Amino acid sequence: MTAHTATPCVPGENPDQEGFFGPHGGCFVPESLKPVLGEIARAYDKYREDPDFRKELAYYLAGYSGRQTPLFLAENLTRSLGGAKIYLKREDLNHLGAHKMNNCLGQILLAKRMGKTEVIAETGAGQHGVATAAVAALMGMSCKIFMGEIDVKRQQPNVLRMDMMGSEVIPVTTGNAGLKEAVDEAIMYLVKNPGTFYLIGSAVGPHPYPLMVRDFQSVIGREVKAQCLEAEGKLPDMIIAAVGGGSNAIGIFHSFIEDPQVRLVGAEPGGRGPKLGDNAATLCYGSHGVVHGYHSYVLRDEKGEVSPVHSISAGLDYPGVGPEHAVLRDTGRASYVPVTDREALDAFFALSRQEGIIPALESSHALAHAMKVAPLMPKEAVIVVNLSGRGDKDIPQIMEMKEKKS
Ligand SMILES: Cc1ncc(COP(=O)(O)O)c(C=O)c1O
Repeated sequence: MTAHTATPCVPGENPDQEGFFGPHGGCFVPESLKPVLGEIARAYDKYREDPDFRKELAYYLAGYSGRQTPLFLAENLTRSLGGAKIYLKREDLNHLGAHKMNNCLGQILLAKRMGKTEVIAETGAGQHGVATAAVAALMGMSCKIFMGEIDVKRQQPNVLRMDMMGSEVIPVTTGNAGLKEAVDEAIMYLVKNPGTFYLIGSAVGPHPYPLMVRDFQSVIGREVKAQCLEAEGKLPDMIIAAVGGGSNAIGIFHSFIEDPQVRLVGAEPGGRGPKLGDNAATLCYGSHGVVHGYHSYVLRDEKGEVSPVHSISAGLDYPGVGPEHAVLRDTGRASYVPVTDREALDAFFALSRQEGIIPALESSHALAHAMKVAPLMPKEAVIVVNLSGRGDKDIPQIMEMKEKKS
């Protein structure tokens, strides 16, 4: 598969007609799926700026999900680290506990306008699954969620939630039985059932998903900009977000891409270390390639096959990453760092004990990096961490790890 080189790589710009952000993105799908994706792209083009669509989305974001979310100064953590101020963007306070709701509301309103009656989704941590199950219930649509068998086991509370809201959870047992395989299954279902609407949970996949998901998640960064100006009279010096497929990160970065004084940092799942198969840090250790219908960075083995990945956190355990992040990395506008399982766990407990906020294991990766760099920065500096979700879903996994240790 060859990369697209016609358009220049400009951070923050919209993709071209074929969905390319510079050489990344595009729509690498079987011929049979092209009409399905074309239909979604045309519908999104039609409704993207439509005042009624935007009004309805704003209504649900406020009344259903509880936006806007606060920007909270973590004073105890800041004091104990003795450096830059650490603010938390409280996406964990969205309905059902994660940023995923922002995107699900946008896509379900589009699916409704397209006359769809069934939605499907993939999920890793289960946060996108529960948010999809909720919006499907809200709109009276039927819903199937594909989830790797390993994730079904480690994210039990979310499996039960999806079931309670009337969605069917389909465990996927192929390959690594993780998030990649869940996406594979969902795509296969879409090929066989082109009338369904595939509600993708991250800024990945073929065009128009990376654009749509970025647009729906960019509410995070717009809010942070206004909130930080009000609280500090300036923009943040650094923004840190965990990167799985990249939706919460692109959502908080997008409004700041043209503010070069704001450093944008993606915290990737460094897992057990840099060896292939021990992590899912795609932008740190991967190379250019195609996965799940789009061109970006991919973790691959010596034969060029997509590699198995590992992370303590189900939501970051994915071998690809959204194409806009590939542009941000290639141009140097954002930097990406690996954070190990151990560092994320330490940050999980630090926030729980010092601030009384239990973060998701995914968000703990961003927090861990903030805890590393804050002491090296002056006290007037401001770091904003995207606290993408709450950790309730991780309690059984943490308990199991504690029991194994004792
Ligand atoms: C709380 C939370 N944060 C982050 C992520 C990673 O996804 P993304 O990179 O699309 O934000 C997930 C994925 O499940 C999640 O549940």
